[in-house]
Amino acid sequence: MATPGELALLHAVLEPDELSHIQRLLGSWSLLSDLSFSDLLLVVPVTEDEGVLATQLVVLGQIRPSNRPTRLHHDLVGESTVGEGWAIAREALARGEIVRGEIDGISSSGPIPSEAIPVRYDSKVIGVIVRLGREAVRPVASSPERTYLDAFDRLAAMVAESAFPFPEADVGGEESPRVGDGVVVVDEEGRVEFASPNAINAFHRMGVYSVPDGRRLGDLGIEESAVEWALTTARPVVEEVERRPDIIVLVHCIPLVAHGSVSGAVILVRDVTDVRRLDRLLLSKDAAIREVHHRVKNNLQTISSLLRLQARRVPAKAGREALHEAERRVRSIAVVHEILSREPGDQVSFDEIVASLVQMAEDSVVGHDRVHIEVAGDLGDLPADVATPLAVTLAELLQNAVQHAFNAERRVHRPTRPAKRHPEDHPTASGQVTVVLRHGPYGLAIDVRDNGVGLPKGFDIERTNSLGLSIVRDLVVSQLDGTIEMRRVPTAEGGGTLVSIEVPTGPHRS
Ligand SMILES: Nc1ncnc2c1ncn2[C@@H]1O[C@H](COP(=O)(O)OP(=O)(O)OP(=O)(O)O)[C@@H](O)[C@H]1O
Ligand SMILES: [Mg+2]
Repeated sequence: MATPGELALLHAVLEPDELSHIQRLLGSWSLLSDLSFSDLLLVVPVTEDEGVLATQLVVLGQIRPSNRPTRLHHDLVGESTVGEGWAIAREALARGEIVRGEIDGISSSGPIPSEAIPVRYDSKVIGVIVRLGREAVRPVASSPERTYLDAFDRLAAMVAESAFPFPEADVGGEESPRVGDGVVVVDEEGRVEFASPNAINAFHRMGVYSVPDGRRLGDLGIEESAVEWALTTARPVVEEVERRPDIIVLVHCIPLVAHGSVSGAVILVRDVTDVRRLDRLLLSKDAAIREVHHRVKNNLQTISSLLRLQARRVPAKAGREALHEAERRVRSIAVVHEILSREPGDQVSFDEIVASLVQMAEDSVVGHDRVHIEVAGDLGDLPADVATPLAVTLAELLQNAVQHAFNAERRVHRPTRPAKRHPEDHPTASGQVTVVLRHGPYGLAIDVRDNGVGLPKGFDIERTNSLGLSIVRDLVVSQLDGTIEMRRVPTAEGGGTLVSIEVPTGPHRS
């Protein structure tokens, strides 16, 4: 369905600032609907002829009251053939005054007693609010209904005077209280004329039990700076009033202005204690989870340091290398926790992980021959339970490439920091490793390709019992439900080894 803005562009003759006035009205008119217990329609003229607004109207907005059953079960928004039965709307538009009468032709039960309120912006009438069902509420004197309708009449007069909606956009926002949450009406001095039962409940929760009628909020012991501000500046204000222990009430103060001077205010109040408590809980839970990741990372780093220290004390070369390998594996897991400890939530940017793993693999190359690792594509954010096994897998594959692909002899001994390289060294690198990351139809895919010596003859990943690739197979196949394929690239295609991994994501994942 078209938005009011699109409809207006299609049909109406509104200037941009007139359109934003209309949009602000649509953002705040639930107040009008609830205070009048009525369905409201906003209509605007469709064409303008030499400065005179023509008679055809289009419905730009419709709202139902939250405290009464609706009179209008169908949707009128977008209707532009607003016919004869809408005479009062046309009259309000032409005269710029509130017109009472009937709207006919929109309900099978006949004409609906209604009123049409001109919407003025600056000095021009740019639309009309039609309030359907004027007769539905017949309040007795001094009943709450009387107060609501009286407040509505004052606001309606403001709409006709170009004083409502206020120029401030969205002062209430989505969280803004509605009439049903609690209403207080104060006079121009800030003395309470009326407080709805829900508003009284909110006062009780704030520890205020005295009868508020005729007293200022400050006298009752309630923070009243928002009300004072609204009354002196004639501007709406939203404020959270906090009372110990931990009671938070959202206060939306709407000044009532008549002929340029403030005659009182409507104050909507909503107890948001539970909402805020939940927000805080979520925040602190998030912080706690990040703290846990931080500690896990620290612990893993400690373990990796222990392994390194121990490796130094092992005389046998094989044992020493095994400890270095273990140390490297632990570090690749620590990389994931490091990133998880920085961002809220359970998603990690896999690209950041890849960058750290590439750095680790490049750092582990010793000797003169360089291995240049290049990364293409990205996988975006991944859930931690996918990112961790993938990180370990990628670390193994990169390690294998730098370790086995470019020399028959093992060239990697320990993960020492290499001597500083000149950036221009790369083009002469003898070894090239490319990591390609992408999301495919099946899930996510990672290719690791090198241009080295290729896999040993007869090599089969299904049958290998060497540790590195067994870990990889276990993580990809058993833990991630994915597939792994390793093959020698024919010399005609550049030679070397290609490892392809695919891991299902989303609904495929079990
Ligand atoms: N990119 C590659 N190029 C050439 N040979 C490779 C490559 N990757 C793996 N291989 C071969 O596969 C073998 C098994 O690899 P795997 O990672 O399982 O064990 P490893 O690297 O020898 O020891 P570790 O358990 O420390 O990883 C290697 O020894 C090597 O011969
Ligand atoms: Mg290996």
